[in-house]
Amino acid sequence: MIIAIDGPAASGKGTLAKKLAAHLGLPHLDTGLLYRATARALLDADGRLDDARAAVAAARGLALTDFDEARLRGRAMGEAASVVAAIPAVRETLAAAQRSFALRPEGAVLDGRDIGTVICPEADVKIFVTASPQTRAQRRALELAGRGEPADYAAILEDIRVRDERDSSRAVAPLRAAPDAHALDTTALDVEAAFRAALRFLPAAG
Ligand code: DC
Repeated sequence: MIIAIDGPAASGKGTLAKKLAAHLGLPHLDTGLLYRATARALLDADGRLDDARAAVAAARGLALTDFDEARLRGRAMGEAASVVAAIPAVRETLAAAQRSFALRPEGAVLDGRDIGTVICPEADVKIFVTASPQTRAQRRALELAGRGEPADYAAILEDIRVRDERDSSRAVAPLRAAPDAHALDTTALDVEAAFRAALRFLPAAG
């Protein structure tokens, strides 16, 4: 079974994807990490985020398995990832790895922005996770504070607005719900309640 989970930054899609994957015994791919790792590699090589050729080379050079999440999760890398993610050739380069992950015999759970629309339009279950920008900014602030990073709520809310706008308005594979996606608004839901709500979207045996 392939489960595609999409949604904007800090909507709760990653946490939900992890929980569903553990529940179903399926492998999970957080596709945002691919874009973050591409941006990180580019910056580490003193490249510019809008240099398409260098960005594609960075994407091609990624080792899919060992991401140093501590270096990728921060606020700046989310923003940088959103910039390289708007380069069509970067998306194309990363698409093949995402598709082959999804086509594992046992199935997979993938989360991102374009999983249900572009990467796995054939997914068995699609969930589009949203939450208000204010709730998402609060969650991100708590998460950053928990890691000892500066967590200025107003700056985070502004980041989220900018990222939503860039991710939704880019020409290729913009953030969008697939027509057959189940909508899940987590604004008023905690992790457990969002998980229980998502379980209702699974086929009966799940
Ligand atoms: O989910 P995230 O915050 O880790 O993603 C970081 C950025 O990567 C996001 O702002 C846009 C981009 N991204 C994308 O364009 N497509 C995906 N499938 C996943 C992430």
